[in-house]
Amino acid sequence: MTLLSVQDLVKHFPVSGSSKLVKALNGVTFEIERGETFSLVGESGSGKTTVGRAVVGLIEATSGAIVFDGKPMSWKRNIRSPELRGRIQFVFQEPGESFNPREPVAAAMIEPLKYLGMNRSDRDRRLAEVLELIRMPMATAMKLPDDLSPGMLQRAAVGRAIITRPDLVVLDEPTSALDPTARAEIVDLLISVQKKMETAYLFISHDLSTVRFLTDRICVMYLGSVMETGPAEKVFLDPRHPYSVGLMASVLLPHPSLKTPERMKLEGEIPSPLDLPPGCPLASRCPLVEPACRERMPLPEYPQPKHLVHCINHHKLERADVVSDRFETFHTLSDRILRQGLPERVA
Ligand SMILES: Nc1ncnc2c1ncn2[C@@H]1O[C@H](COP(=O)(O)OP(=O)(O)O)[C@@H](O)[C@H]1O
Ligand code: SF4
Ligand SMILES: [Mg+2]
Repeated sequence: MTLLSVQDLVKHFPVSGSSKLVKALNGVTFEIERGETFSLVGESGSGKTTVGRAVVGLIEATSGAIVFDGKPMSWKRNIRSPELRGRIQFVFQEPGESFNPREPVAAAMIEPLKYLGMNRSDRDRRLAEVLELIRMPMATAMKLPDDLSPGMLQRAAVGRAIITRPDLVVLDEPTSALDPTARAEIVDLLISVQKKMETAYLFISHDLSTVRFLTDRICVMYLGSVMETGPAEKVFLDPRHPYSVGLMASVLLPHPSLKTPERMKLEGEIPSPLDLPPGCPLASRCPLVEPACRERMPLPEYPQPKHLVHCINHHKLERADVVSDRFETFHTLSDRILRQGLPERVA
């Protein structure tokens, strides 16, 4: 069942002292099902954070709609209807940002409950439940943020997000600032929280090996547009968009067989979001480009059920031969790297 529907989302930021606009999002559409992990991936500047901020209500979109649990959401920050409060939560990249340096982390963790009007004893009971879920002793939660490691602090940030029992948590690069062990612990925590609470995640990351480990469906973005959306296994093993092929093969893993296949190397200039050309945004870098690509944005096509691609030449990538071997190697390697740091039950 659909929980969140993002429809033709456009966000153009004004530039001070200029009539130009930063075209951060140019018609982004996707849906998130109840209880699933939906990941947004793409190079820096592709618009992932802007989508996350719009979903959480931190910015107002230029146009488009976000429908949550069947109801369109208001853009106005803090004016979201009271019944939505606490149902969408977020975790950002820098764990320190969620915490006041002068307050114990436990104080920040219960803060979202105050907005729900919960009384003190109910808040304390909920805090104890969440600390157990995130495996954090109360004594640790009573420390100041500066006394916790970044991994512990991010663990507390996850606790703070789930304390309202939300339907959706938006996680923007939640593991990027962490070392590999802390990263694996957070991934493990997110998986176990989801099993218990059936929370859906909008997981934003450029770290494909982490994404691959916990995602159900994946959406590949480039310069504010969706290139490809589909089940994670399909998009990782059998990508049908030249950008996805280039992106996944460029993942830096220490293995010679993981080099980008020559024919799918993305070379050439990345257009400025201030001056996007018409048509497919990848045209300046795409080895399969042809004149029609530059005329209009390719319409969505479905090479396989539930697998959407915006590329007029997606059929040329059908069940990529050499590429699939490389992805299988990539799979095995990324699994092995991630599992090193994970406790037995997840591995
Ligand atoms: N507040 C802002 N004002 C102007 N431009 C912005 C703002 N926020 C983001 N952008 C621009 O929007 C584009 C998308 O950014 P972002 O959503 O942060 O991408 P990502 O998270 O994928 O790296 C970038 O070109 C970025 O510079
Ligand atoms: S539409 Fe054209 S330029 Fe865009 S990805 Fe497909 S082949 Fe490349
Ligand atoms: Mg970002």
